[in-house]
Amino acid sequence: MKRNEKRIIVGLTGASGIIYGIRLLEVLRDLGIETDLVMTDMAAKMFEIETSRTETEVTALATRVHDSYDFTSPLASGGFRNSGMVVIPCSMKTIAGISCGFADNLLLRAADCTLKERRPLVLVPRETPLNVIHLKNMVTLAEAGAVILPASPGFYHGPKAIGDLVDHIAGKVLDVLEIEHHLYRRWKENTL
Ligand SMILES: Cc1cc2nc3c(=O)[nH]c(=O)nc-3n(C[C@H](O)[C@H](O)[C@H](O)COP(=O)(O)O)c2cc1C
Repeated sequence: MKRNEKRIIVGLTGASGIIYGIRLLEVLRDLGIETDLVMTDMAAKMFEIETSRTETEVTALATRVHDSYDFTSPLASGGFRNSGMVVIPCSMKTIAGISCGFADNLLLRAADCTLKERRPLVLVPRETPLNVIHLKNMVTLAEAGAVILPASPGFYHGPKAIGDLVDHIAGKVLDVLEIEHHLYRRWKENTL
């Protein structure tokens, strides 16, 4: 990775809202930002359940794709140079796995490495309502340095379609990673 070039690890899990992850991959590709994709088995199921996209179509959006059981992947090492990781959407199971350091798939291991190397880790949980175990796990993760960015889009930017809501979340993720974008209209931006 050259200086100032971004390279983002994108993790997809089997929570509802897989469209958020797909959209983030599209946007990063369009911005010319390299992505390393790792997804769980349930994430692949969610393409069928919630979208008309095939796994092949989604993986084609990423620069590189990593098998979620391949612990020999570069992503399994903290030495892998990258600009941060996003897990979008992030299931409560994966939240639990990251929060207790139980790295039994490559996505969990990559998130573990991201935290230990003090790189940005953005988690986009999708569940409602939340029980106290979910909440405690998220507090643990926030204390460890992760950014908890719930998949709860705002409505103040005048969304007209589902895509506008999805773009709001993708845009908020890019904000955390300090990547310029025009995915949503910021509140009163032009009045300052
Ligand atoms: C249709 C469907 C929707 C689901 N939605 C959620 C969800 O929004 N949040 C969640 O935490 N789990 C959800 N799950 C359950 C997860 O898929 C399940 O806990 C799985 O073990 C997650 O594994 P992963 O984190 O390795 O992808 C859903 C499952 C199905 C089949």
